[in-house]
Amino acid sequence: MYPKQVRIVEVGARDGLQNEKTIVPTASKIELIDRLSACGLRSIEATSFVSPKWIPQLADATEVYTGIEKKSGVSYPVLVPNLQGYERARAVNVSEIAVFTAASEAFAQKNINASIDESIERFRPVIERAQADGIKVRGYVSTVLGCPYQGEVPVADVVRVAQRLHELGCYEISLGDTIGIGTPKKAQEMLAAVAAVVPMTSLAVHFHDTRGQALANILACLELGVSVIDSAVSGVGGCPYARGASGNVASEDVVYMLQGLGIETGIDLDRLIATGLWLSAQLGRETSSKVARAAA
Ligand code: HMG
Ligand code: MG
Repeated sequence: MYPKQVRIVEVGARDGLQNEKTIVPTASKIELIDRLSACGLRSIEATSFVSPKWIPQLADATEVYTGIEKKSGVSYPVLVPNLQGYERARAVNVSEIAVFTAASEAFAQKNINASIDESIERFRPVIERAQADGIKVRGYVSTVLGCPYQGEVPVADVVRVAQRLHELGCYEISLGDTIGIGTPKKAQEMLAAVAAVVPMTSLAVHFHDTRGQALANILACLELGVSVIDSAVSGVGGCPYARGASGNVASEDVVYMLQGLGIETGIDLDRLIATGLWLSAQLGRETSSKVARAAA
């Protein structure tokens, strides 16, 4: 049965802008997040406190985070890979962080230069510190339906990593189809297996639309009761360390589908479409949102 309400986690300012070839000006990033805040979103990922050597696109994380207007009732999570990132995030008073690892060893090595176990050992003190500081921690598992380097990823590996992040204290685990390779039946099988060990209310899905399967996969996961969906305005997104990854599913398209299903999101679709069109103009290309294209 579909959930009555869905929370969208808007990842465009992070997943989207981390993958742009040219570095987006800090002022545009701030304007994007402020515009998103006016759309009724409750979770807007703002940036990443990762190594600027690895992701130069988000080297201005401190400036972006301090520059945005924090609207009450809206959470602005930031990615943190290690204690160094935590210190930087803490220095600007973040209230939510996200740690991230993968279900495939090959991808973890390429993306964070660590094995899955090593990455989890890195998070342990980060999560302890965050809990002591009253900061919420979200967890990401990448490559849940396939890996660009390893190929097939056994569901048991996804379950094991998600369970560990949950046990470590992540309040929510986002399951990422990093390279958009999954199809609905596989997505359901993976989600059902994870939900057998982590409550469905603590799970989110994160689909990239590389092969045009994202909305179908989301619908299949909604049928199982997932009620948190990651998406990116204008369909921006991708990980520079995931060969062949393209944009996230467009937030506008997800909201349109949810409205059609009678599922509440609290989001003003017209404003979201306008924000996505503004962003695509900033990036100098057409929006990837079909709903926005139809409205333009
Ligand atoms: P490393 O090179 O092994 O780390 O990288 P290191 O500890 O040896 O540090 C190397 C240099 O980076 C040092 O500087 C550190 O100080 C610095 P140097 O001494 O050479 O001048 N450094 C930092 N600087 C600022 N902030 C930090 C930080 N950490 C180290 N936090 C590391 C390991 C994890 C740091 C690196 O691999 C990294 O930052 N990776 C991030 C990659 C990334 O952000 N990928 C995209 C996000 S994941 C994603 O998109 C998937 C997702 O969307 C879900 C899905 O779709 O599946 C979430
Ligand atoms: Mg992603």
